[in-house]
Amino acid sequence: MGLISQEVIAQVLDRCDIVDVVSSYIPLKKAGRDFKALCPFHNEKTPSFVVSQDKQIFHCFGCGLGGNAISFVMNQEHVEFPEAVRILGSKVGIHVTTQETAGGPSVQVRQQLKKINELAVEYYHRNLLFDRNPEARAAREYLKQRGVSLDTAKELSLGLAFEHWDGLMNFLRQKGISTGTMAEAGLIIARNDGSGHYDRFRNRIMFPIFDTQNRCLAFGARALDKDNPAKYLNSPETSIYTKGRHLYGFHIAKEAISQADQVLVVEGYMDFLTPFQHGVRNIVASLGTALTVGQTRLIRRYTDNVILSFDTDRAGEAAMLRSIDLLIEEGLNVRVATLSDKDDPDSYIRKNGVEAFKERLQKAESFFDYKLRSVTSKYGDESIEAKAKIAEEILPTINRFKNAIVKSEYIKRLARILAISEEALLMELKVLSQGTAFSGLSSEIRQEQVALKNQIRPVEREILKLMLEEKSFITLTKEVVSLSDFQNQYVRKVVEKMFEISDKGGEPTLPVLMSSIEDQHTLQMITALAASEEMVVIDKHRVHRDCINRLRQERLRLQRKQLLRQMELARGANDHKKLDELTREFNELIKNI
Ligand code: CTP
Ligand code: MN
Repeated sequence: MGLISQEVIAQVLDRCDIVDVVSSYIPLKKAGRDFKALCPFHNEKTPSFVVSQDKQIFHCFGCGLGGNAISFVMNQEHVEFPEAVRILGSKVGIHVTTQETAGGPSVQVRQQLKKINELAVEYYHRNLLFDRNPEARAAREYLKQRGVSLDTAKELSLGLAFEHWDGLMNFLRQKGISTGTMAEAGLIIARNDGSGHYDRFRNRIMFPIFDTQNRCLAFGARALDKDNPAKYLNSPETSIYTKGRHLYGFHIAKEAISQADQVLVVEGYMDFLTPFQHGVRNIVASLGTALTVGQTRLIRRYTDNVILSFDTDRAGEAAMLRSIDLLIEEGLNVRVATLSDKDDPDSYIRKNGVEAFKERLQKAESFFDYKLRSVTSKYGDESIEAKAKIAEEILPTINRFKNAIVKSEYIKRLARILAISEEALLMELKVLSQGTAFSGLSSEIRQEQVALKNQIRPVEREILKLMLEEKSFITLTKEVVSLSDFQNQYVRKVVEKMFEISDKGGEPTLPVLMSSIEDQHTLQMITALAASEEMVVIDKHRVHRDCINRLRQERLRLQRKQLLRQMELARGANDHKKLDELTREFNELIKNI
């Protein structure tokens, strides 16, 4: 799959009106120059979702979500960027195709990283299956001990990283890959003393992590040495791999998931492999954490029915409870299959056989029963205090259902079980719903929202706004500040893009910017800015000057701090020459502050 060209994206955005797009999904009401609605992305009673026809953006003042027509479709249909462009294209009669070759350097880099990962998969896989040395024999024996067949190893492209420090590095070098690129792919690591690199993965079974199109994005790796304290080691995040956006095994399980209209989510690599090998094919692994929004949406494209079977330990239970809330919020049906104590799906099947496991899946409890049991075992269910505690923990989960009827059914059930009145529970529920503006959102999105809001300093916000309003401020800003003066990464990304577009002689207007930025956080940040009131200032130039000064001051203060530290070091080391030098520099610097 290639990339959709900027022209096509611009054309699509140009031809469709965001008001038409949004109103094909939800009813919009005219409100002054804008349109209003109840936000489709979080629960609310009074509308805080605004669509601006002038600016061709939407923004929800309640949950903070915002963007252009493309982002709206992405959120509404739970699809990725290219798919959203395609959907919009088909609405306005533009056939959206992808280009294989063109695209900026980042596309090339991403393609190259995928290629390197492919080579690495091949290398590790060959080591595991065909190498004759004792290390490879031992690794095959290890898999056999754990009950993993050769067929399964082939199907999942499992591999082996040898014990020495440069096996993969040498292999890739022979293929003409530079060490820089290998490091960027997270496969090798630079030595601290600067004397070269070494393989990240050594003496480990390798589990390639693929995307839905069967391309390897990253690796998980299990230590073969049982004394190694790092039992599992994973690829770092790279420009092609973001943790929490992928599910292990999804590429191979997706058809089975769709056919069964159900997915089994487990935690670990082995918890995936064993059931999979025994015929449970509609399975994925979350890789040791609670599900994320990204993973949930991936699932949702194939099925609405999820069974969770995580470890029975505390961490597993916590991850399961968090996943339940998220899944409910995303409108999925979730059940929990509990295994015997201290077992994970892998060990359970090895002990009791796959039929016993399937039976556990059949008997999976509803989220409600599971959570009730888990909370009751913590507090008991006799005293009034215990009942209050139980209600307190279960109500937020019930509150995540968008459907009022479902909500009230669960309230009824809870009232019956705890033998307390429905009214009391409903009152508690009401308090919960009024809690915060973000109450309808998952904690993950909520945290992101809060972080976005907190992190942007007013000075950065103001400069950005000025640059969005008047092009002349872009040149003025570029002359005196550097990108590193902006501390917020999203602001930095936007400013960089604006500089880039204006360098090429283009005009970085809001729509142009929005169609060239795919990152959802960055988009959200811009739309939030654009949707907030226009700055009513008499002298924008004066504001700009003030902002620039503040940025510079900040930079100088930072430099001063660094210099002071260096001076202290020089003094400690009795390096008078260095100290004199630094002192001169320091005096020069503070003249400007
Ligand atoms: N995990 C990880 N990084 C770690 C620990 C765990 O990525 N440092 C992930 C792995 O995907 C692992 C899963 O969390 O498979 C579950 O971890 P754990 O229960 O500790 O391991 P098991 O899967 O039981 O591993 P094994 O059966 O191989 O001992
Ligand atoms: Mn295990």
